[in-house]
Amino acid sequence: MTAASPNNRPDLVDLLAFYASAGVDDALEDQPVNRFAEAPKPVERAVVPSADAVAPHRSTSASRPEPADRANVPPVARAPSTTATVPDEAQAALARQLATTATTLDELRQHMAAFDGCNLKATAKNLVFADGNPEAAVMLVGEAPGRDEDIEGLPFVGRSGRLLDRMLAAIGLDRTSVYIANVIPWRPPGNRTPTPHETEICRPFIERQIELVNPKVLINLGGPSAKTLLNTTEGILRLRGNWRVHTTASGITIPAMPTLHPAYLLRTPAHKKLAWRDFLEVKAKLRALT
Ligand code: URA
Repeated sequence: MTAASPNNRPDLVDLLAFYASAGVDDALEDQPVNRFAEAPKPVERAVVPSADAVAPHRSTSASRPEPADRANVPPVARAPSTTATVPDEAQAALARQLATTATTLDELRQHMAAFDGCNLKATAKNLVFADGNPEAAVMLVGEAPGRDEDIEGLPFVGRSGRLLDRMLAAIGLDRTSVYIANVIPWRPPGNRTPTPHETEICRPFIERQIELVNPKVLINLGGPSAKTLLNTTEGILRLRGNWRVHTTASGITIPAMPTLHPAYLLRTPAHKKLAWRDFLEVKAKLRALT
């Protein structure tokens, strides 16, 4: 975007609409920052990162923007510097340890609430732990909370949640007979896709959550949930509709049905029939298991 002058200053309403359409709907600073008032900065040459910094899924200080560069990042994309942490292997190890030592769902929630190793926590309003019945035979796992979930601290309460409720009702289930969680329990800013590293940091928590709930059937809502929990790189359109197995850390195997994410179905209603078939499979499996 070019610097604004009094003659070419973009209309603020248009600018806000642009941000909203890009998914930027949260401000992270108490005070607005007038980016148009900032003097243009000379382009700086990129710092060559160390071998450590370019290792897959590792972010170190060498690959983080320096404070001077961060000043050019719009406030909506910047985490408060006092609380933001960049995940590294030590944090992943800590997440694994906290997850393993939780012996109940309450303990797991407490451990996750106290965990500062995932940078998404710095920008999220709430930990979105779970909704529904922890004794349920069916557990559904989505990708990550969106704006409504972040505000309420509950998974699937927005538009896709309302569709999910209707899909569940179609096979005689509701939130008293299912348990719902996400792979990532903190909303990524602007609903961006969680990075592989963020997913790896959060993976021990959701895996432990599944193990503690120990459902008869797992439903993976969307590709990221299926890929993370079913150890596959296959796309969701190939995976869906076929029973897979989720294996917990202690070796328990749980039948898992990957299906299409409700947010995808809102955008692609023609595929609702596919999800309907998948849910009928779940219904049949529950009948066979009880
Ligand atoms: N999408 C998800 O994957 N999870 C939610 O909780 C909401 C939307």
